[in-house]
Amino acid sequence: MRFLSGDFLKPRGGEPGVWTARERASDAFVGWFGLYDRGDGTGDLGYRLARIMWGSGYATEGAKRVVDFGFSKLGLARIVADTMAVNLASRRVMERAGLVQMRTTHPEYADPQPGAEHGDVEYEITRDAWLRLNP
Ligand SMILES: CC(C)(COP(=O)(O)OP(=O)(O)OC[C@H]1O[C@@H](n2cnc3c(N)ncnc32)[C@H](O)[C@@H]1OP(=O)(O)O)[C@@H](O)C(=O)NCCC(=O)NCCS
Repeated sequence: MRFLSGDFLKPRGGEPGVWTARERASDAFVGWFGLYDRGDGTGDLGYRLARIMWGSGYATEGAKRVVDFGFSKLGLARIVADTMAVNLASRRVMERAGLVQMRTTHPEYADPQPGAEHGDVEYEITRDAWLRLNP
């Protein structure tokens, strides 16, 4: 998989911190990865992959690359991510990228998705933890 940094989330029109990922071999669209820099040393990691690409390890590969970028290039102090508690694939991606679960929250949603009653989970990795994983 290769990243086209600068080739940002086109449907919304060029937000910073969003990458389009494509397969190296086929050039096929894989999905989007994002890192929103809150400006206080914290970055928010997110991703959304085309369904046909699920289960190929691309989410894990991309999330790791974005985490590395956030610490090595942006100098962030921590990176956080959240998802629905029932989204086991996304939770696994976070864990594989080195994030650990910090808390479970129960936000009120006007139009809750199935499984929302189990709440959301918040994950994070600190710069120190990342350095221990990447000596
Ligand atoms: C979440 C998402 C990015 C995962 O993509 P993916 O391509 O399946 O991820 P990977 O192939 O890297 O697999 C990640 C891990 O999740 C596991 N996994 C995949 N589907 C799973 C499921 N339904 N239940 C449990 N684990 C699952 C995989 O086995 C893998 O774990 P492993 O490395 O220990 O084998 C993808 O499903 C997606 O884009 N979903 C829609 C949007 C979304 O949910 N975004 C995240 C919101 S926070």
